[in-house]
Parts: sequence; C-alpha cells; structure tokens
Amino acid sequence: MKKAFNPFSLNTYVSKELFCDREEELKTLCSGCQNGINMTLISHRRMGKTGLIYRFFDEIDSQKKKDMPITLYVDIYATQNLKEFTQQCAEVIFKKLSNKNGLGKRFLKVLKGMHAVFSYNTLTGEPKLSFEYQEPAAYEYSLQTLFQFLESQKTPVIVAIDEFQQVSAYPEKNTEALLRTMIQFMQNVNFIFSGSNRRLMSEIFSNAARPFFSSTQFLFLDTIPTASYQSFIIEKFAEQKRTISAEAVDFILSWTFAHTYYVQAVCNRIFAENITKIDLTATKQICYEILKTQEPIFMQYRNLLTPAQWELLKAIAKEKQVTQPTSGKFTKKYGFTASNVQRILPVLLEKEMALAMPTVTETTYRVYNCFMGHWLAEL
Ligand SMILES: Nc1ncnc2c1ncn2[C@@H]1O[C@H](COP(=O)(O)OP(=O)(O)OP(=O)(O)O)[C@@H](O)[C@H]1O
Ligand SMILES: [Mg+2]
Repeated sequence: MKKAFNPFSLNTYVSKELFCDREEELKTLCSGCQNGINMTLISHRRMGKTGLIYRFFDEIDSQKKKDMPITLYVDIYATQNLKEFTQQCAEVIFKKLSNKNGLGKRFLKVLKGMHAVFSYNTLTGEPKLSFEYQEPAAYEYSLQTLFQFLESQKTPVIVAIDEFQQVSAYPEKNTEALLRTMIQFMQNVNFIFSGSNRRLMSEIFSNAARPFFSSTQFLFLDTIPTASYQSFIIEKFAEQKRTISAEAVDFILSWTFAHTYYVQAVCNRIFAENITKIDLTATKQICYEILKTQEPIFMQYRNLLTPAQWELLKAIAKEKQVTQPTSGKFTKKYGFTASNVQRILPVLLEKEMALAMPTVTETTYRVYNCFMGHWLAEL
C-alpha cells in the first residue's frame, strides 16, 4: 500500500509549502540582511528558530538570480571549543561551495593554506575537516582566515550560527570578544545568531560588560498567530483529501499552547491515523494516546528531579499556567511556602522543565513540554 505523504514535519524544514506563516519574521530577517544589521534570534525551544532560518535561506537559494547572497547555516550545538567551532564553519563553507566551480577551488586553496585534514564520516559519508595545531592562537588565526575569505566574496554572505549560546561554555573565555572583533568590521557578511537559552543569549547580547552588547537587533520568535495556524492545518489536511473540524483545530492549538513542535506532533499523529473526517472526539483520543506513548519518558524525569521540584512542576501543571507562583493562593493550595517556590522554580527553569513567559507587567509559568504538562496534571 502506498503510504500517504504526511505534511506535518517533525524534524527539519522540508519546503515552503509545508511551512506555516512567519511572514513578518522573514521580512525582518530580510530587511536586516539588506541593511547590514546582525540579528539575534531567540525563542523557547522547539518554537521554530531553525525552521525559520532554513525557510529564509530557502527563499534566497531558490531565487536563481545572480549575485544572491551565499547562505551558510552553522549549527554549533555539538561544538565544545574554538577549534571545533572553526572546523564546523570550515566544513559548512566547504560543503556549500564544493559545487561552485571557481569558488570551490579557491576555498580549497585557503583550506590547504590552513593545513586542513580531510576525512569522511564513516556512517554518513559526509566530508569532515579538521585542523591540528600546536599553538592555540593558530585556531584564532584560521577562523580569521575563514571570515576574511567570506568578506572578500563578490556576493554578500549570510552566516546563521544556531545554538550560539554554546560559545559561553567554551574553555576559551575570550571567544565572544574574539568573534566580536572579527565580525564588527565585516561589511560583506551578515550574521544571524540564534539560540533558545534566553538567559545565556540575553547575557551575551544585552549585558553591557560583554563584547556583543547592543551589537545586534533582537528578533523574538513567538507562537504562530492562531488564525494562520488554523488555516494551515485545515489546508494541509484538505490537500490530502481529509477534513478536520474547526473545533478539533481549536482544541489542538489550545491544548498545545500553539507551541510549534507540539502542534506539528499532534497533527502528524492525527494524519498518521488515516482518518478521512477528523472530529473533536477523535482528536482528543489521539492526544490521550500521545500521552500514553510518552509516559515512560515522563516517568524518567521523576528520577532527575528532587521530590520538591517534582511536586512544584506537578502543581504548575495542574494550574496549566501560573502567574503568581509565590502568592498565598498558589502556595497554600499545593503545600509550599513562598521561599520554597523562590528556591525551586529557578532550578526548574534552568533545567528547562518549566518555562517563563515574561510580559511588561508579569511573568507566567508553565511546564515546558506541554505533553508532559497534561500528563502531570492528571496525576
Ligand atoms: N512555521 C512552521 N510551520 C510548520 N512547522 C514548523 C514551523 N516552524 C517550525 N516547524 C516545525 O516545528 C518543529 C520545531 O521547529 P525548530 O526545530 O525549527 O525549532 P527550534 O526553535 O529551532 O527548536 P530548538 O530550540 O530545540 O532548536 C520542527 O519539527 C519544525 O519542522
Ligand atoms: Mg533549533
């Protein structure tokens, strides 16, 4: 039997057609790059930062015009130090330019000059690059060489560095200063720094004592507007000859707090059920099944938290959202004291078990993983 194509991606960006909205954010990124403004893209985990960068780059790459910017996506999540950062940048440039004849050759020359060693990933067959220098300063020099190469291109270059907060964990404490120095005079290269750890990202870009202070424009990625997501979901089901009721879609968006990954996950699962007419009852049943399937994972978290942390997370889950967690109303109801909450809540935030949504007047908290939140609420 031919498998129906599931239009709700759970992994990486697939195509413009399967990507919902983000038109305003795309305009902001576009205008930033056209005006030489480096940007900092921040959102909660799984809200769609990486997807947005891919979507933006796809828009650029698919225009087969001459002189379009060269787009480079560098994910530094797995890098541990400046050496790996440099290797990752070199690898991305190498892969991008390898099919561009003249440019590819020129970059190879640069790499040879840097004594790069080539190998292949035995599992994926992807090319790998490494540098082995005795002197730590040589890594700084090679990164500079890479950036200079990009700066000297005839076409503009856009570099997106995803999971940028990772640099603050490098043993080379001067990495931010080093990058800032290299980047600030670049005219041909625009940077997008993306990350989900709000505390670390804000520290890097808004602390007056840090090198990147006030050097970029912030773009905070919120949930996709409900109306857009509603029509997207209905349309994607309809394209595959299925119907989903408006109340089922409303339920999905409110049950998931419209958090992108969770919306996609529910829709993906509903689609996989092969139902042609999806109503609210079927939707609720599938949501319940998702919680059941993930139960073993949720239970493991219990071992990672102290009993008090677990109880506070459960209390937040039962309330769905909490705006005044130290108020008597909340603490009395769940048997905490205000000082307990003041001590435990920051740990839950740091562990990304709870999530804070600040507004000008107040901060609301909820369980980060909304599936886990619903599961905990029933305990
Ligand atoms: N606008 C969108 N339309 C449809 N699906 C999207 C959209 N944005 C993101 N997604 C999907 O949502 C999921 C999470 O997105 P993504 O990985 O981009 O989030 P992220 O913010 O980079 O997360 P993390 O902080 O964990 O890296 C992915 O499955 C992605 O394909
Ligand atoms: Mg990401």
